[in-house]
Amino acid sequence: MNILIKNITNLVTCSGGYPKTKDLLKEAGVIEKGYVFIKEDIIEAVGSCDEYKKYLKEADVVIDGKGKTVTPGLIDSHTHLVYAGSREKELPLKLQNMKYIDILNAGGGILSTVRNTRAASLVELKRESKKRLDLMLLHGTTTAESKSGYGLNFKDEIKILETNKSLNKIHPIDIISTYLGAHAIPEEFKDNRDGYISLMIDEIIPYIKRNNLAEFADCFCEEGVFTVEESRRILSSAKDLGLKIKLHVDEVESIGGAELAGELKATSAEHLVAASDEGIKALAENGVVAVLLPTTSFYLMLGKFARARKMIEEGVAVALATDCNPGTSPTESLQTTMTFACFGLKMLPAEIINAMTINAACAIGREKEIGSIEVGKKADIAIFNANNLDYLIYHFGVNAIDTVIKNGILVVQNGKLVYEHSRIYR
Ligand code: NIG
Ligand code: FE
Repeated sequence: MNILIKNITNLVTCSGGYPKTKDLLKEAGVIEKGYVFIKEDIIEAVGSCDEYKKYLKEADVVIDGKGKTVTPGLIDSHTHLVYAGSREKELPLKLQNMKYIDILNAGGGILSTVRNTRAASLVELKRESKKRLDLMLLHGTTTAESKSGYGLNFKDEIKILETNKSLNKIHPIDIISTYLGAHAIPEEFKDNRDGYISLMIDEIIPYIKRNNLAEFADCFCEEGVFTVEESRRILSSAKDLGLKIKLHVDEVESIGGAELAGELKATSAEHLVAASDEGIKALAENGVVAVLLPTTSFYLMLGKFARARKMIEEGVAVALATDCNPGTSPTESLQTTMTFACFGLKMLPAEIINAMTINAACAIGREKEIGSIEVGKKADIAIFNANNLDYLIYHFGVNAIDTVIKNGILVVQNGKLVYEHSRIYR
């Protein structure tokens, strides 16, 4: 099927090279009165004004873009999509100022989600996670990274990664799989940290690599969770086996996580709220993408946000993601992330959209295929009910999505899911 989107009031292409750093991050490649012609699953032409007319004959569907802002499909480059249960019962503890790490160390937090996730079957996990994927799609996300980390043993970590694989087959959203066994020390290894680390290094990571169950390995390097030395050991072994590297670092305290991300030449370092000046330099010097998660800072009531402006100034490639998870960021909506990126991180609308499209593609190693509206790229496109990009970010707390196109297929129309009626994906 071929789709023509014509008369687009604000076409935000996010084209112009990658990763976008410094002043380039402010360039969103906006075309007024633009058009996009999609042939099958690929973007065939992009331009402005009446030039679209030459594609009318070939188009099976013509969409009028008047009053719309059209962007690349949003890319959520950091999520904990697959889990069971929820954690609303922690709200009073949070409001009594009980610290996140203290809730975790008392057997709550991540460990409570681990208990629920271990008890759930693959079918149940798939059903629950598919609902979240549907919500993501309804809010404009067309690709999502998905981390394991609520199994914390061989069987249940593999169950989560198999859930990713299985969801990728049935859902329009493309899933990039990450192994985050180093998310917490499981209760049964409380007095034997090294035993758990050896289990990951000697058994779980080699199995994942052999069975191609994850593209990335991640580690929660934080005071009270995994030390810098432990994180280095775990991630170096994953890297030696050919996995790419991500790190949760400096979410609450800085223990040198960003510096480690630079040293390991990780693809991305994520959170970075407490990242030091040296850590930020290490990211810039080593081309590590900083994935910032402002909804998490808000939800943890940290009273501060990552130093996005400093990172941008220093030449770090900044991406934005939801961190969708049951503890610190229970949301599927990158539009919510837009709000907190603007008012928390002080990022401009053009910077925000680049950070959740082309720079997010860099954070998952997909920059050649997705993340911008350019000829030859995959036809992943979000159409918003907004006259311009500034309005999209200014009018907050509502879902502005009108239409979503994934791989050249209409999957959301008039703000409603339609993909079940179109076709099976892979
Ligand atoms: O990114 N920091 C570690 N992991 C998640 C939270 C997971 C949870 O609390 O369940 C995060 O904030
Ligand atoms: Fe996270």
